[in-house]
Amino acid sequence: MAKTPPRPVGRPHRIEVIAPEGLELIVRDEIRRLGSVARPERDAPPGVIPMDYAGELRALLGLRTAQSVYIVRAFPVPRPKALLGDEHFRAILALIERVRRLHPPGAFATLFLSAAGAESAVLTRLKSELAASTGLSVGADDGDLLLRLRRAASGEGWELLVRLSPRPLATRPWRVCNREGALNGAVAHAMALLTAPGPDDRFLNIGCGSGSLLIERLLAGPARRAFGCDIDPAALECARANVAAAGIAARCELHPWDATRLPLHDSSIDAICADLPFGHLVGSHAENLTLYPAILAEAARVARPGSHCVLLSHEVRLMERLLDGRPEWGLHSLLRIDLGGLHPRIFVLERQA
Ligand SMILES: C[S@@+](CC[C@H](N)C(=O)[O-])C[C@H]1O[C@@H](n2cnc3c(N)ncnc32)[C@H](O)[C@@H]1O
Repeated sequence: MAKTPPRPVGRPHRIEVIAPEGLELIVRDEIRRLGSVARPERDAPPGVIPMDYAGELRALLGLRTAQSVYIVRAFPVPRPKALLGDEHFRAILALIERVRRLHPPGAFATLFLSAAGAESAVLTRLKSELAASTGLSVGADDGDLLLRLRRAASGEGWELLVRLSPRPLATRPWRVCNREGALNGAVAHAMALLTAPGPDDRFLNIGCGSGSLLIERLLAGPARRAFGCDIDPAALECARANVAAAGIAARCELHPWDATRLPLHDSSIDAICADLPFGHLVGSHAENLTLYPAILAEAARVARPGSHCVLLSHEVRLMERLLDGRPEWGLHSLLRIDLGGLHPRIFVLERQA
């Protein structure tokens, strides 16, 4: 699971990594594994990890817990109009070219500029001149090449950020089938890491839906066995398509099991992950009142003592109440995350002996 640290390649780049809010520490850990080439800073708004980075830009595209990564360039200009001047305009084109070279030809077709006043005459001209010089077309409300322009935090000058990838990194290429309530790839990867994965694990993804947690667990490293189960046949079909696209079909098993009555032996599972029905898009609060205790009891039966069970849920009070009455599960840690404006928790539980 350890990656070879990339070599320093010269003057550091100014980089901003966007993390799922609440999971910054996990993203920092992943950045740290890039080696001494990265120096993430602590003082930043939630979900933002600024850093000086002296490694290969390409290595940043491999960050699996990040939402997206931007390269940042400061322009000591009083107003954006100055960016149309020859020297600054060339610097912007050089930055864009550097990003485009990370991908095969044709990966970027459209560009989009996000900025306060993006529709002003000056920024409209900047967009169309950039489009003309890069051969890209200006996207209506999104673009493969995503540029952000903002005032520098110091208040002096402006900063241009260019996203390093044509899609956010959290948008996974394996997702060929989507479902209501499907989990963000970066969050799924972080949850898989929170199970403390090891190559001998027998891993179980309860209520696997489209397969996000199962796939991200196997992309994080090998496992002895990896099971995904769901009672909904359409979910399993969707998971099957995604698992095949991820190239891991031979390494996992998908079953129509009911998570409250698993055909598995006692203590036979080393790690469990689930994104439980929140009761909004999937399931209902009334159903959760019976589903959650049944799942917690069955998970405790099949989990090996000492193993981790990582559960994402928006039913915070219900979970806390149930865990109070279940000494089989110790609360190892609790993370509050931001998931599209909702604030569910990741409960990292440890099966007590
Ligand atoms: C929030 S969704 C999971 C989404 C999934 N993580 C994804 O990325 O697509 C919850 C899933 O739990 C499944 N589920 C609900 N009750 C279940 C049960 N008793 N046994 C197994 N799966 C169940 C639902 O069919 C649904 O697919």
